[in-house]
Amino acid sequence: MAYSRALLKLSGEALMGDKPYGIDPSIVQSIAKDVSKVVANGTQLAIVVGGGNIFRGLKGSADGMDRATADYVGMLATVMNAISLQDGLERSGVPTRVQTAIEMKEVAEPYIRRKAIRHLEKGRVVVFGGGCGNPFFTTDTTAALRAAEINADVVFKATKVDGVYNRDPKKFPDAIRYDNLTFQEVLSKEIAVMDSTAIALCKDNNIPIIVFNLFEAGNINKAVAGKQIGSRISNSS
Ligand code: GTP
Repeated sequence: MAYSRALLKLSGEALMGDKPYGIDPSIVQSIAKDVSKVVANGTQLAIVVGGGNIFRGLKGSADGMDRATADYVGMLATVMNAISLQDGLERSGVPTRVQTAIEMKEVAEPYIRRKAIRHLEKGRVVVFGGGCGNPFFTTDTTAALRAAEINADVVFKATKVDGVYNRDPKKFPDAIRYDNLTFQEVLSKEIAVMDSTAIALCKDNNIPIIVFNLFEAGNINKAVAGKQIGSRISNSS
């Protein structure tokens, strides 16, 4: 395996599958199947999950809600996803612990960095819910932050598209996919892959990001094995 400890960022929308809202159990099952192979092969895996399938802070704020309040609602949505994901993973035989950035002890463990690392060392998947506990920060930034905190070798951003393009591939059929690009390029060209806070955190801590399509079965395993899939963002192109 190319990486011994990885952080997987799953968007909330990824959990919806083709549904207009909520969680598609078949998607959770297929993620769980991939994750169980990753863990069985000895790679330690932590997951940060978004909440956009239930509530988006930015959308709430655009609709007139106070931004910080909307972000807190979004953080609660990520906890629902984290627990649902744990359920799916454990049904596939993957021991999983959920830790939340906002303490809600009756529901899950609070986020304790050293405990998270210990869980990983014991072969458990750790799902981080509740974002980073602060409004104005995205779950992409949380992924970068947690990756740095747990000394992850890489961030996997598993999305609906198969990489980073020079323009929107849905609108422009001639859009070109990047195999490799630098953090600096992403920042200076304002390429919409993750927000600039997340990119800057990975840049400063030298943690590469690999963007790939979650819906191609086996992609998580290919990424962990170091195979060329999607787009790789790092400090050197
Ligand atoms: P080790 O001590 O390393 O073996 O870890 P462990 O997670 O198996 O043991 P622990 O006794 O800490 O936790 C047992 C179970 O309780 C696990 O499923 C934890 O996720 C869960 N758990 C631990 N702390 C909390 C908490 O504060 N709140 C909730 N809801 N569950 C917790």
